[in-house]
This record gives sequence, C-alpha cells and structure tokens, in this order.
Amino acid sequence: MADLQQAKEWLQQATGVAVLTGAGISAESGVPTFRGTDGLWKDYKPEDLATPEAFLKDPRLVWEWYDWRRGLIAKAKPNAAHRALVQLETRKRGFTLITQNVDGLHDQAGSGKILKLHGDIWRMRCLECGANFPNRRCPLPKLPPHCACGGMARPGVVWFGEPLPDGMLKEAEHAVSQAQVFLVIGTSAAVYPAAGLIPYAKQAGAKVIEINTEATALSAMADCVLQGAAGELLPQLI
Ligand code: OAD
Repeated sequence: MADLQQAKEWLQQATGVAVLTGAGISAESGVPTFRGTDGLWKDYKPEDLATPEAFLKDPRLVWEWYDWRRGLIAKAKPNAAHRALVQLETRKRGFTLITQNVDGLHDQAGSGKILKLHGDIWRMRCLECGANFPNRRCPLPKLPPHCACGGMARPGVVWFGEPLPDGMLKEAEHAVSQAQVFLVIGTSAAVYPAAGLIPYAKQAGAKVIEINTEATALSAMADCVLQGAAGELLPQLI
C-alpha cells in the first residue's frame, strides 16, 4: 500500500510519462502470454514459428499459428488496464505508449499514438512489392495469404533476429529520456532491445514503476514494484 501511494505521488507530479507494456497487460483479456506456466513458448518453439528462417522453410505452418492467434485475439476486448492508460494519456502533457504487443488492444481501447515495437498482427507485408497493409479477416480463407500484386504476404510483426521498425527504438528512447516516470507493465523484460529501455530510463533519471504479477529479470532495477494484476492495480494507480 505504501508502494502504491509512493508510485501515485511520482505519477501525479510527472509531466512526462512513458509506458512500456508487454503480453501481461492483455492476459486479463484472455490473450495468452509467451513465458510462464501458461505461456505460448511452453508448447511452441519460437525458432519454428517466429523467425524469418521458419517462415522461409514453411510459410503455411507459420501462418496457421498466426491465424490461430488472430482468432484468439479477435475475441478479446481491452480490459481495465488498457482503459486506465487511455485516461492517463489525457492527463499528461508528455505521454508515450510503447508496446511489445501485436494484439491491437491498446488501439481498440482508444490510445493515441502507439510505438508498436514488435509490429501488428492485424497487418501484413508483401514479400514481393513490400506493401504493408491492414487485414482483419479471420480466419484467413487461404494460407499463406497473398497481396493484391500476387506476392506472398507475411505477418506484419517483428520476428526474432529482425530489426525493430525503422527509427522506432530511437523514438522510444527519446520519449523515455524525457519522462520523469517510466511505467513498465506486464513484461518479463526478457526480450531486447525492448527490455533495454528499463536501464535506459534509469540512466536518464526516470522513476521506474513496474507492475507485474511476478518478479522479473529487471525488478531489482525498478524504483517501485507493484505486484499484482495490471487490470486491478492500474486503475488504482491512475
Ligand atoms: P512474456 O510472456 O515474456 O511476459 C509476460 C509478463 O506478464 C510476465 O512477466 C508475467 O508475470 C506478467 N503477467 C501475466 N499476467 C499479468 C497480469 N494480469 N498483470 C500484470 N502482469 C502479468 O511477454 P513479453 O514480456 O511481452 O516477441 O514478451 C516479450 C516478447 O517476447 C513478445 O513481444 C514476443 C515474445 O516472444 C516476439 O514474438 C518477437
């Protein structure tokens, strides 16, 4: 309770706030996380499904997995944590939402600009002409899907071994360097470069507030750790 009070004060005083979210913020919406006992990486191997090499080897298999995940996400609705961040955005002059999530639930909740470090599961990219286009069809009628130019399309997400979208990490770092508070919600802080934003924020002098149901790789670095579900804690904090 004392921690929550302290975090509230820091947040109220801050004019600049940056937020990093991970799969945990969507867990209460019914979207599976990646790590942990119920995580996707328990039953599936990232190297078979989430790398450019896996896609080249078997595009249909990779698309089957993404089509299945799109089906799960299509049924999910934003929860109280996504909504609380929309509220926070309206109150702060400087506000940047950075997410590792590809599920689109921040957009659906009504957040403004979102730095989607790992792309968007509702977009596709053509391997032939390079077009990057939205597609919400679910399930997809034919796998793998194709672009209007006839080229094969891939999911509009970032896979292991691939760079983040052009300039986006710089933009995220800039936002973090301007923030007095960096809120880190529902991420295991295991995947870089996203997790690197936490030490970056510390170095830049921001107070780091972590919200997570469990301790993470970078909890020791946080100025305040609020342990619990994002959907319960965030509305109390904001
Ligand atoms: P993880 O699955 O690694 O971590 C989810 C975190 O959320 C864990 O630390 C959980 O303890 C926490 N959590 C679960 N339920 C929660 C709740 N209700 N409230 C608060 N926290 C909760 O997901 P990410 O850190 O997002 O990348 O994973 C990072 C990247 O690894 C993903 O973007 C994805 C994955 O492989 C790619 O596919 C490239």
